[in-house]
Amino acid sequence: MNSPSNKEKLDFLFSQIKSCQRCPLSASRSTLVFGDGNPDSRIVFAGEAPGKEEDLQGRPFVGRSGQLLSEMILDVFRLQRKDYYITNILKCRPTINQEMIKDRPPAPEEIASCMPILMEQLKIVKPDVIVAIGSSSTKALLNTNEGITTLRGKWSVFKDIPLLPTFHPSYVLRNGGKNSPQYAMMIADLKKARERLL
Ligand code: URA
Repeated sequence: MNSPSNKEKLDFLFSQIKSCQRCPLSASRSTLVFGDGNPDSRIVFAGEAPGKEEDLQGRPFVGRSGQLLSEMILDVFRLQRKDYYITNILKCRPTINQEMIKDRPPAPEEIASCMPILMEQLKIVKPDVIVAIGSSSTKALLNTNEGITTLRGKWSVFKDIPLLPTFHPSYVLRNGGKNSPQYAMMIADLKKARERLL
């Protein structure tokens, strides 16, 4: 019998965790946002957590910042969404209150309960490179309090996999989007990650 494909393994993992109640975010979510894209990708993009759109659609990075990120990845890697694997360190949307009006960064307990899912995803996909998108995912993956402005564009390692931190696209948008220095810095970081795949 053939061994299961990465897609089958990810589908199985999803079936196991889609009703997850490991943390209180399960009570307020519309959908658990597992991950999206190519199960055999050589690169994994790991963001922070679903926002409003992601929570509604069940797919990571489909809101405004996600659109910017998709464009940047297309520009730098010539890859479409279906070509790479993208997920978050938290699978459910963290908000400041139950009315679900404003997002907030993931809390340490939420990261601790959700991280095993990302670990399983990485064990299945086995990428050559991880790009950590934004401060929260970089801090969680590297177990550091160092700021993203210091860490971005510098190679680290997560579980033997080369990891490159970069800005979050929402930070780039807040700083003026495509005309901002942060946009140029993020493009430079993504190009660095691309070189590692050559
Ligand atoms: N921001 C993230 O970090 N992840 C998403 O999926 C959406 C917005």
